[in-house]
Amino acid sequence: MQIIDGKAVSKAVKEQVKNECDELKAKGITPGLAVIIVGDDPASQVYVRNKERACEECGFYSVKYALPAETTQEELNALVDELNGDDKINGILCQLPLPSHLDDKEVINRIDPIKDVDAFHPVNVGAIMIGDYNFLPCTPAGVMELIHSTGVDVTGKKAVVIGRSNIVGKPQAMLLLHENATVEITHSRTVDLPSVTKTADILVAAIGKAKFVTADMVKDGAVVIDVGMNRDENGKLCGDVDFENVKDKCSFITPVPGGVGPMTIAMLMRNTLTAAKIQNNIR
Ligand code: GUN
Repeated sequence: MQIIDGKAVSKAVKEQVKNECDELKAKGITPGLAVIIVGDDPASQVYVRNKERACEECGFYSVKYALPAETTQEELNALVDELNGDDKINGILCQLPLPSHLDDKEVINRIDPIKDVDAFHPVNVGAIMIGDYNFLPCTPAGVMELIHSTGVDVTGKKAVVIGRSNIVGKPQAMLLLHENATVEITHSRTVDLPSVTKTADILVAAIGKAKFVTADMVKDGAVVIDVGMNRDENGKLCGDVDFENVKDKCSFITPVPGGVGPMTIAMLMRNTLTAAKIQNNIR
């Protein structure tokens, strides 16, 4: 069994992005990312801080808009409109979830698709569906990079995704399909889930329940990718996979933390770079 080092893979991606950023800067272009955070959700604050740090590492211009929890939809919309029109800003990211009085969908739909570095806008989601995209969704794209780092060829493999969210499960299945996997999406209503997950050569867990995937659900020699970020009974960070019990059955497995998490941010940096290139007619 080998543990996939998400920190190392993400570092390599960020270094590549930094090199390309240096080339753009030589042409007078600095990629710029705006991150909006509303309210004081502690997990979101950590994610946003990590995104700012990654911008610094890559040499990007970045601006954080930390808005109070009582921000109105109109105020948030006005900020998005302003950033859509700001030439220094190539990518706009609104950290989710938003406080309950605000509408995620309204904000996502308002971001100019060419600045939508999360790839959440319906135009970008549709582009991913037909395989003709500018931006890949960050977490699923990061998962694909981790799979590539193992050297395992995805073509013809059976891939099972647990979870059907718009952010991870659904686009993850599409990216695996683009690489010629035979893909099955499972979810909370799936009957006899272990009988399905046991068929997986590649298993991606994106459920949001601590240590949900147990050894009896995993095929011998599977590649197991854990997208979960939960707290266990002792308050310790853990994934959706019961790592200690599952690891010896796998050929490759990602840890939590240090697996998928760092990749999401690295892919956000890549999308921001892509956005800067497109907006400056560089391809
Ligand atoms: N909240 C959890 N993951 C994400 C993400 O990838 N992007 C945004 N905008 N919010 C998130």
